[in-house]
Order: sequence, then C-alpha cells, then structure tokens
Amino acid sequence: MTRKIIIDTDPGQDDAVAILLALASPELEVLGITTVAGNVPLTLTTRNAQLIVGLSGRTVPIHAGCDRPLNRKLVTAEYVHGQTGLDGIDLGDPTVPVTPGNGVDFIIDTLRREPAGTVTLVPIGPLTNIAAAFARAPDIIPRVQQVVLMGGAYFEVGNVTPAAEFNIYVDPEAAAQVLGSGVDVVMMPLDVTHKALTSAGWLAGLRALGTRAGEAVASWTDFFERYDREKYGSEGAPLHDPCTIAWLIRPELFSGRRINVEIETEGRYTTGMTVADWWGVTGREPNALFIRDIDREGFFDLLTERIARFS
Ligand code: BDR
Ligand code: CA
Repeated sequence: MTRKIIIDTDPGQDDAVAILLALASPELEVLGITTVAGNVPLTLTTRNAQLIVGLSGRTVPIHAGCDRPLNRKLVTAEYVHGQTGLDGIDLGDPTVPVTPGNGVDFIIDTLRREPAGTVTLVPIGPLTNIAAAFARAPDIIPRVQQVVLMGGAYFEVGNVTPAAEFNIYVDPEAAAQVLGSGVDVVMMPLDVTHKALTSAGWLAGLRALGTRAGEAVASWTDFFERYDREKYGSEGAPLHDPCTIAWLIRPELFSGRRINVEIETEGRYTTGMTVADWWGVTGREPNALFIRDIDREGFFDLLTERIARFS
C-alpha cells in the first residue's frame, strides 16, 4: 500500500536527495513539502525546495513554515551547505510556486482531513514545524501514523557541538516536545547516517546516467563532501536525510532498537544532546526506534535505481 507522507525540510543537499528519492518512489505519496529554517534561513530553504521540485518535474505543494526555532535564535550551517544551502550546481530560478498557506497549518489540516493513522511525517530539519503543529492542534497527535526523522546522535556524538547533532541542537525544545508527545517515532541519528557514505564509484554511476537529476545529485554530493572529508577524513559525504525515505521504502536495509530517547534542553555543554538509553538502564519507557546500522550497498543501489527514473 502507498504510504502518505509530508516531508518537513530545510534543504540542504542531503535533504534534496531525500526529496528526489521520495518523489521517484511509487511506494510513497508525497502530500506536501513543508519548509523550516535550519541549514539556511527560511526564504532560502523554501527557494531550494522549489528548485528541487522543479528539477524533479513532479507536482507537489510546497508550504513555508516557521522562520525560527520555538524559543531560540536560529543557528544555520552555511559552513556545510554553502551560502544558498544548496551550493554545488546552478539550477537557475524557481519555476514552481510556493503554495499559499503556512506549513504548520498545512500539517494540521492534512492530518485532520486524512483518515487517522494514514499520514507519516518525515522531518529532516529542525523539528519546529512539527512541534508547533502539535502544540496548536493536539488532536492531530493520535492521528499521525509515524514520525520518521533524521536527527540525534549517541555513539557517534555530535556534529555541531561535541554532544549535539544539528537538527536537534537548532531547536531542542521542539525535539523534546515531539519525542514526548507519544507519537511512534523512528530516528535516523548520526550513528547510522555516518555509515551512509557516498563513494567515487557511486558518483560516477550517477553522472553516467546522463540526466539533469543524476548530474545535480552528483554535484551536490561533491560540494557537500568537502566538509566531511576535511573534518572526519572520510571518503565520501554522509547522506543523512535520505535514510528516512529509504527506511520507509526498504526498512530491511536498516536495524536498530526501540529505546527511550530524551532531549537535553538545559545542559551546560550538552544542550541538544539525544540521551539514548541503548542499554536500557533507566527504566524509562521506549519512545523511539533508534536506528544504528545500514546495508550501505543496498541503500546506494536503491538511490541509483530511483534517481535514474528522472530525466
Ligand atoms: C542534518 O543537519 C543538516 O545539515 C542535514 O541536512 C541533516 O538534516 C545532519 O546533522
Ligand atoms: Ca536537513
């Protein structure tokens, strides 16, 4: 059965690959894309979403959501993603429009309209829009099928601070609200996404497709890779956000544990840390499926096969 999803995103090169993967996959019906401030400010994440949807040639509503975290100043990541957030290839100006109506309202209205338990939220940026929707309309919480998010880190520790992963760090209060809401959460932390590393062979395969989409994904990855290469000495770029979509299509490519995850919102050095009770020492109820491993080859084969569907 086709799964209905809303992608909540702050594109970002890896967000872009996630969006293309979803739009190419008949297992998923993308009801809409909501944008949030994160990697770059909201005007740019929204523009980037327009460019990505334009590149795909598909039709999907794009709604702009929150332009700042719930109660903190926005922290951005141009040092990773470039000044536009989507550096790597010039896609010109957007040809697809932004749909009127705020992203938070779109999430609320969609969950109220669709049958309960049939819409999955896929946040791949800070969790501001999701938390704002849950706070404004708590009646939608039990109607959510699942939240499949990219965020957090435990064994791998943080990427933006020694303790925190970027998406959670930018809006830890929002993350705490989502994890504490009782929704069924699947988390793709750095523990797994740092294993989803691109390779030179995979990039060559994408370029060999001879398509605009293949060239765009390869160019984004080339750009994005330099940061991780300099920082971690890794060979390729970690495709964080596409792990969420791949899990929805092929969950057998991943493994993890249902555990309790709490968000540190007041740490002196650890704000935004995902305190993951992997060893079950707290007695706290599990609230998330915390993914730790991936079949890397299967993941990249899936990506190539799906990206090849675009012209
Ligand atoms: C996450 O932060 C962003 O830079 C990426 O798009 C991803 O969602 C990784 O920490
Ligand atoms: Ca992202």
